[in-house]
Amino acid sequence: MLDAAQTAEKTARNAGENLLEVNNIEVIYNHVILVLKGVSLNVPKGSITAILGGNGAGKTTTLKAISNLLQSERGEVTKGSILHMGENVAELNPSALVKRGVIQVMEGRHCFEHLTVEENLLTGAYTRTDGKAAIASDLEMVYDYFPRLKERRKSQAGYTSGGEQQMVAMGRALMSRPDMILLDEPSMGLAPQLVEQIFEIVKKVNEQEGVTFLLAEQNTNVALRYAHYGYILENGRVVMDGPAAELRENPDVKEFYLGMSDEGRKSFRDVRSYRRRKRWLA
Ligand SMILES: Nc1ncnc2c1ncn2[C@@H]1O[C@H](COP(=O)(O)OP(=O)(O)O)[C@@H](O)[C@H]1O
Ligand SMILES: [Mg+2]
Repeated sequence: MLDAAQTAEKTARNAGENLLEVNNIEVIYNHVILVLKGVSLNVPKGSITAILGGNGAGKTTTLKAISNLLQSERGEVTKGSILHMGENVAELNPSALVKRGVIQVMEGRHCFEHLTVEENLLTGAYTRTDGKAAIASDLEMVYDYFPRLKERRKSQAGYTSGGEQQMVAMGRALMSRPDMILLDEPSMGLAPQLVEQIFEIVKKVNEQEGVTFLLAEQNTNVALRYAHYGYILENGRVVMDGPAAELRENPDVKEFYLGMSDEGRKSFRDVRSYRRRKRWLA
């Protein structure tokens, strides 16, 4: 059952009050490899929206299609449209999108290893024209969200931990003063406690700065606890979507993505049972 807030959310999603709309996109790599086969999703302003699914499902490809980072991978959106605030952005380059307030935090973090933590953060402000004082004050904002980075501000980024590097990558994105962050697999390779910390910060930034998040995650469990809405991708298609609370209670999601069911724990790698039970694909 949907409660009133969830129903309102679902209605808003369908009524076009979206910061971002992805309509039926197809992505092909190297002119031949069809990877996304008609993916559609909506991201309402102010939401945390999750793209879920296993390794190779097409999550990163979807984010890169949105931020126009596919070209360098010999990938191409061959069908469909991507609208940001109602305008088609499929032809823009990544930095034009940053100027529109949309920034991607890539999978695997990507710090400038030879720069210090603080220098890394400052590179995030390169598109800004609002002066040093504003940038300095945002640096303090980032340190408020990530106190750990303040302690490590003078350390060379390459020598910080995986969790700290994830924080640097997110902090650098915040330094561009985005309206929307595309966050790819923030939990990857991090210990559970750190994953929780990272998601707590996502939640805080969402609530306090009003930043909209579209995040890709294999860690369905944590993503569905923090996101408002989720899309499950498999093999380049959305196979299910719904408010996070609803997905958390769905028996198939429980069985194949949350690793639990009424019959006990199961892995979604149990392919035979997976095919039989996966009625949403029918
Ligand atoms: N540059 C590329 N060239 C060819 N195939 C690719 C490329 N990048 C990803 N793929 C393929 O696209 C599919 C989806 O990959 P990806 O979007 O990275 O999935 P996910 O992020 O969900 O793990 C995979 O089968 C992957 O092998
Ligand atoms: Mg990925």
